[in-house]
Amino acid sequence: MKGIVLAGGLGTRLQPLTNITNKHLLPVYDQPMIYYPIQKLAQAGIQDIIIVTGGNSSGDFLRLLKNGKAFGLRRLNYTYQEGEGGIAEALGLAEEFAEGKRVVVILGDNIFEDDLTPYIKSYLQQEQGAKILLKQVPYPERFGVAEITDNKIMSIVEKPKQPKSDYAVTGIYMYDQQVFSIIKTLKPSARNELEITDVNNHYLEKNMLTYDVLPGWWADAGSSFPAYFRAISLVRELRFKNNNASMKE
Ligand code: DAU
Repeated sequence: MKGIVLAGGLGTRLQPLTNITNKHLLPVYDQPMIYYPIQKLAQAGIQDIIIVTGGNSSGDFLRLLKNGKAFGLRRLNYTYQEGEGGIAEALGLAEEFAEGKRVVVILGDNIFEDDLTPYIKSYLQQEQGAKILLKQVPYPERFGVAEITDNKIMSIVEKPKQPKSDYAVTGIYMYDQQVFSIIKTLKPSARNELEITDVNNHYLEKNMLTYDVLPGWWADAGSSFPAYFRAISLVRELRFKNNNASMKE
């Protein structure tokens, strides 16, 4: 399984911080934001990764991450997305890298407490299709939201005004090789992006989308200043919990 980290886009919601650097290079407690998704994939044994960069200071990704050896990766590849055509557009740029294999995709501003290994394992037992990971959240209208009846996803709606559940679609997606042909059929949404929610709905229509619900915390660090601050606090707590260190400065 290959890994794809999406770190394109312009990060306008964190301006002025993102006027002079890339959102994914901003610090989240003691590490740059982009470290977290890379470490999550590495922890799950994914050693062949591509980063889709874009926007400001994209050359700095190379300065920071180099060849990925420090993360235990076998290979770290890079590509560049022009503009902000959406998550699905950014994913489409990784088609050649995927070489027809299954991929696990992670958003460059998403931070997860849980180890993803069991979810990736269970996806690989699936014959084909896709898997998404959900998390119950207090403000689902900020995310893609899955409507669930009798443990089955009925629909996924991107940032609904009136969400039908509190299950947010997190930024981890597992896809088979069909994903790249699905992306080619997509039309831009009202916000002029190729939406990952449309990709997931394609799989859903074909009855090829499974899901799991994450027990641990999840932070969408780049979506707003409160979300960024929350991500920093959660990582800080985790560090103290793991190191059994004191909270003193
Ligand atoms: O965080 C989870 C949410 O991410 C999902 O619940 C939504 O369904 C999904 O659409 C997405 O929503 P956001 O509006 O929060 O996505 P955002 O524009 O913040 O982009 C998230 C990451 O995706 C960003 O850190 C880098 C990557 N991206 C985004 C865009 C728009 C790209 O690589 N290229 C892009 O053009």
